[in-house]
Amino acid sequence: MAFENILTETDNGIAQITINRPTKLNALNKDTIGELHEAFKVLDADATVKVIIVTGSGEKAFVAGADIAEFAHFGVEGGERLAAEGQAMLFDFVQNLGTPVIAAVNGFALGGGLELAMACHFRVAGDNAKMGLPEVSLGVIPGYGGTQRLPQLIGKGRAMEMIMTAGMVTAEDAKAWGLVNHVVPQSELLDFTKGIAAKIMKNSPVAISKAIKAVNAGYEAGVNGFISEIRAFGEAFGTEDFKEGTTAFIEKRKANFPGR
Ligand code: COA
Repeated sequence: MAFENILTETDNGIAQITINRPTKLNALNKDTIGELHEAFKVLDADATVKVIIVTGSGEKAFVAGADIAEFAHFGVEGGERLAAEGQAMLFDFVQNLGTPVIAAVNGFALGGGLELAMACHFRVAGDNAKMGLPEVSLGVIPGYGGTQRLPQLIGKGRAMEMIMTAGMVTAEDAKAWGLVNHVVPQSELLDFTKGIAAKIMKNSPVAISKAIKAVNAGYEAGVNGFISEIRAFGEAFGTEDFKEGTTAFIEKRKANFPGR
């Protein structure tokens, strides 16, 4: 895949997407969001890809936000469209992807950058990472899901404080609050994240994708997550992965999941 603003590479079932606008601290402009959508779509459709890791190029930033220069002149309708299209194309799209997506947060994750990390299924941070939703300092609010996903991850009070102060939290605070799962030295961030990906890859891709759906269902308004879980649990019994997983256990061997 050839893109202008992102790099993709796949090695042994692990795909890495690197947002690559280092001179703009990897800020998300419209083209980058379009390219990310395309890359996630293609990688998700590729059965050989078992895990996707998303990170930023350079040592300074994961993503320093939506591209402020691009929306600074927008009016009310343009602002609403920006949020709606961005949420549909990237943030909701990533959250609902069947392939696991891990954010490797390698520096500033601000505004749309933190919102992208939060849309991923979970997050690992380098020890230099700094996270925040500084939108109110620009006279706007988080528009890529931040007002919803941040309270889900760290609780309403902390989210309110982060949003109202427009402040940044350190990687260690983010870990203590449950915003990231692990903090590792920056130089080890990708290897460590790939290590988690390798553990995920040993398991049934079909079951993982159903589990992602069931977990997400609990956060959807009007959807009963328990009912969704029951349905997905039943469906799993009809898969080849289930046959292989249970047979391998009984035969005391490692499962070799066909992914169907
Ligand atoms: N949108 C567009 N450009 C951005 C950007 C963003 N969100 N964040 C950084 N950049 C650009 C800067 O304009 C600068 O470009 P220039 O060299 O052409 O002037 C370049 O990236 C480097 O950023 P700079 O501000 O010089 O780096 P710094 O180390 O002094 O500060 C930050 C780093 C992250 C603290 C600072 O860039 C910042 O506050 N960025 C905006 C964060 C934000 O509000 N995000 C939410 C947007 S809704």
